[in-house]
Amino acid sequence: MRILVTGASGLLGLNLALEASEEHTVFGLVNHQPVRSEAFTVLQGDLLAPGTVERILDQTQPEWVIHCAAMAVVDACESNPLQAQQLNSEIPGELAAYVGRGGARLLHVSTDAVFDGQRGGYTEQDIPNPLSTYARTKLAGEVSVLEANPAAIVARVNLYGWSLLGKRSLGEFFYHNLSAGKQVQGFTDVFFCPLLANDLAKIFLRMLQLSLSGLYHVVSSECLSKYEFGLRVARKFGLDEGLITPASVAQGGLKAARSPNLTLNTQKLSQALGEKLPAIEPGIDRFYQLYVHQYPQRLSQMAAGE
Ligand SMILES: NC(=O)c1ccc[n+]([C@@H]2O[C@H](COP(=O)([O-])OP(=O)(O)OC[C@H]3O[C@@H](n4cnc5c(N)ncnc54)[C@H](OP(=O)(O)O)[C@@H]3O)[C@@H](O)[C@H]2O)c1
Repeated sequence: MRILVTGASGLLGLNLALEASEEHTVFGLVNHQPVRSEAFTVLQGDLLAPGTVERILDQTQPEWVIHCAAMAVVDACESNPLQAQQLNSEIPGELAAYVGRGGARLLHVSTDAVFDGQRGGYTEQDIPNPLSTYARTKLAGEVSVLEANPAAIVARVNLYGWSLLGKRSLGEFFYHNLSAGKQVQGFTDVFFCPLLANDLAKIFLRMLQLSLSGLYHVVSSECLSKYEFGLRVARKFGLDEGLITPASVAQGGLKAARSPNLTLNTQKLSQALGEKLPAIEPGIDRFYQLYVHQYPQRLSQMAAGE
């Protein structure tokens, strides 16, 4: 397949472009952060600049488009709501319409944060109630994608993994700080079901192969607190778990409101795939194996201009 991955310098897009390029011809769109890759073709473009969506699609002629580009830093969206609205809500709809007209398939990436997290265990039928600018703009993006292109897949995710500059995921946060002997907080009152970006990438490719469409929760079948996640990373890497102080998110000094219980039900997708979504431990094992095989170094060497 010819696959266009947007956000190919980001946490998800980069890992996805690398995983997909093992079997497919991949084009990766980046904006400010240059990337050097032999595995896939890197293209530069600002999705907010008029004509970029059409130019990139015409240039690459993809059969599948996986849209990972977003304003994905929650507190940055709070500071810049207009740009968050354009990038997270309007561009996805534009892209969905254009991809649909050309006959390609689209997988649009959304977030577990569309829910307020008062209850947890959310299914695709449950009504979202976003608490932050990030979450509101991402929810509006889901709606505009499915309105413009009902055959698209909208995937609500949560993830961790190794990133280009080593700073984009909670897994990296715990690994780097604990390795440096630094004390960190681990929230005991925020629950999530993260998947390793590389595993998430493989699931996306299967969803496209199966020609699924509509809304899916694509997260781990197992959920835990951010504190517990930190402990599991520490144990796997042989780091001092005593450096993780149990804390409440209220003590975290975060700008945007966070949803406490973002556990999602994955039954719809597991039925479509014919198997359960991965649990936490196999993901952390692979996160560790990637580290042992110097994957983080491979990624940092791809950061052109660094
Ligand atoms: N990370 C998480 O834990 C998490 C959780 C739930 C959902 N998600 C969703 O997963 C997706 C990927 O998130 P991520 O964490 O991988 O994001 P990320 O690491 O912050 O990367 C964002 C990507 O978007 C690109 N981008 C931003 N503005 C752009 C523009 N104007 N034109 C073109 N590209 C632009 C960036 O390109 P440059 O850097 O080159 O400018 C970068 O490649 C997003 O839809 C996010 O909402 C993420």
